[in-house]
Amino acid sequence: MCKKESLKILFERRSVRSFKEEQIKDSELEIILKAAQFAPSAMGQQPWHFTVIQDKEILNRINVLTRKVYEKSGIPRLEERAKAENFSPFYNAPTYIIVSVDEKSVAPIADGALALGNALLAAEGLGIGSCWIHAVNYLYTTDEGKELFRELGMPEGYIPIGSAAFGYIAGEKPEPAPRREGNINIIK
Ligand SMILES: Cc1cc2nc3c(=O)[nH]c(=O)nc-3n(C[C@H](O)[C@H](O)[C@H](O)COP(=O)(O)O)c2cc1C
Repeated sequence: MCKKESLKILFERRSVRSFKEEQIKDSELEIILKAAQFAPSAMGQQPWHFTVIQDKEILNRINVLTRKVYEKSGIPRLEERAKAENFSPFYNAPTYIIVSVDEKSVAPIADGALALGNALLAAEGLGIGSCWIHAVNYLYTTDEGKELFRELGMPEGYIPIGSAAFGYIAGEKPEPAPRREGNINIIK
């Protein structure tokens, strides 16, 4: 891939919130995960673990649990979202990836975020829609959430730092949100 193409991916990636039901191909998932694994990490520790969920029953369990957490969150925005009939924190995407990191590593949050960011960019390169989903962080504050993550194979001593929805885009890809200006200071 030429430099220009990789920059195009950076500038054209958008958060997608409407997905087709059709599952992404295993070969595409493999590339997304490989891109995540190729992220830089502090001291090269690669302190991440990826839980890929494509099982409809588990996805539904996450929905039900997240709705409960949102209902009791005390955060008006989340309480409102929990009321939606078709509630799905990951917009009913067919693939949901949770990134967890070793708490004892040097820079777990930064490393995990870079890995997930790489996964979003790889998805864009493949023409697959994606969206970072924060719900996993709320879910982990509950005992039921913690239990579910362990059940799904999150290693001992790891904590989830983020998650993302992946799937083929239904409808039009959203327009980019305007970018804030005035946040660059170049010192020469
Ligand atoms: C840490 C983080 C958490 C986010 N959580 C959510 C989320 O829970 N739900 C959602 O729809 N989008 C979420 N997003 C996506 C942002 O809303 C989105 O990136 C932002 O509005 C800019 O749009 P763009 O991704 O299309 O450039 C999150 C993004 C980040 C980086």
